[in-house]
Amino acid sequence: MTMSGFAALLPRPVSAEAAPGTCPWPAPVEVRPGANLPAEGYRLTIAPDGVTLEAADAAGEFYGRQTLRQLAGPDAFRAASIHNGPAELPCGTITDHPRFAWRGCLYDVSRHFRTKAEVLRFIDLLAAHKLNVLNLHLTDDQGWRIETPEFPRLTSVGGWRKSSMVGRHDGPERDGRPHGGYYTVDDLREIVAYAASQAVTVVPEVDIPGHARAAITAYPELGPASDTPWEVWTSWGISTSLLDPSESALDFFRTVFDHVLDIFPSQVIALGGDEVPGVTEAHHRFVRAIADHLVARGRTPMGWDEVLDGGDLPAMVIGVWQDRERASLAVKAGHEVVLCPEDGVYLDHRQSDHPDEPIPVGYLQDLEHFYGFEPESGPHVRGVQAQLWSEHLDTVRRTDYAAFPRLSAFAEVAWSSGPRDYAEFLPRLRDHHLPRLDALGVEYRPLDGPRPWQTRPDAPGRPR
Ligand code: ACM
Repeated sequence: MTMSGFAALLPRPVSAEAAPGTCPWPAPVEVRPGANLPAEGYRLTIAPDGVTLEAADAAGEFYGRQTLRQLAGPDAFRAASIHNGPAELPCGTITDHPRFAWRGCLYDVSRHFRTKAEVLRFIDLLAAHKLNVLNLHLTDDQGWRIETPEFPRLTSVGGWRKSSMVGRHDGPERDGRPHGGYYTVDDLREIVAYAASQAVTVVPEVDIPGHARAAITAYPELGPASDTPWEVWTSWGISTSLLDPSESALDFFRTVFDHVLDIFPSQVIALGGDEVPGVTEAHHRFVRAIADHLVARGRTPMGWDEVLDGGDLPAMVIGVWQDRERASLAVKAGHEVVLCPEDGVYLDHRQSDHPDEPIPVGYLQDLEHFYGFEPESGPHVRGVQAQLWSEHLDTVRRTDYAAFPRLSAFAEVAWSSGPRDYAEFLPRLRDHHLPRLDALGVEYRPLDGPRPWQTRPDAPGRPR
């Protein structure tokens, strides 16, 4: 591959052949169907007199255009042009397609709500990295974020909490500030439609039978008997309050999921199933019944790998996060897997041992660690997903810091095949891609550590 002017591309394309000359840009792009290109694939031929874009499908055309945007220089990532006159593209041919069909990021809008505008912006950032699944974690112990007209208390009561834990899971600190928010049905339809325009599928997640305390607070009959009134949880961690696996709770959640199906056209619908202390056979049956319900409605359920412990499930997508052995367990049981290991691609975990690292929690997962994530391929591996849990990310500025540039490294793992060399990646990121993030207004973590205003001396961490 002769990269020359193409060496700035991220994620790296399958093949790039440079040719002499440049093409003035913007230029007309002739789009043609791409015979023999794999799904989402494209071929760009850049000549002095114009650009031809062959595309396997709509996503392929979209990714070809993202590649042109990268070749046009970092200012092409600004909201408006700040230059007079044309830029130049290097001439040559790029042929490209992704390694994995599922290139996802989990986005937790329950622990800290993100406004609709923030979600739309995050979709833009995924699309700029050729990532294509937004796994939107909409419900948890700390907040319910989907307007659900059948059960209005889910948002009027479950959509906010009185206070939040600041930093570590095991301390007394609370901020004393109400926190909340939810998306109307129209907001969600807009998010789904906008994501589709950016070649991103929104996979909604409603977490059962644990991580459901916001729903239990709204409708206490969904939970176990309690002497004290329920509150939307003001702590982080794993709550022991589970849904009561009764027929009426099951009916309630069948109605909730039908509402979710009405909003989200995604083939895959996520039902959670993670971190359920004290789980019983009745809880497993509850999860299985919701999975069966989704299948009966023509969709494919997705659950975290804990659901495997209940056995006897319909064919699902399993999000393998706990340990990689669970991927083979899932495949043996007839499921497909999305690989999202906690020791590999958790963006909430601390990204350095720097003394000023803000709210350092979890395992050390620096940029090189993310780039070194080696997922197995295979017919049952649908893809990979990075996870952006938001307990410690109370603003979108914190989210930018946690996500970038590690998510840029992950995007290359998700898209590109072949050997990876961090020493080759790092200058490409530093010299070409970080300027794009600057132009987009992303407040990423600088490679040498946080800026003073990115530190959080007010909030203790909990490194592992
Ligand atoms: C998870 O991190 N609880 C899937």
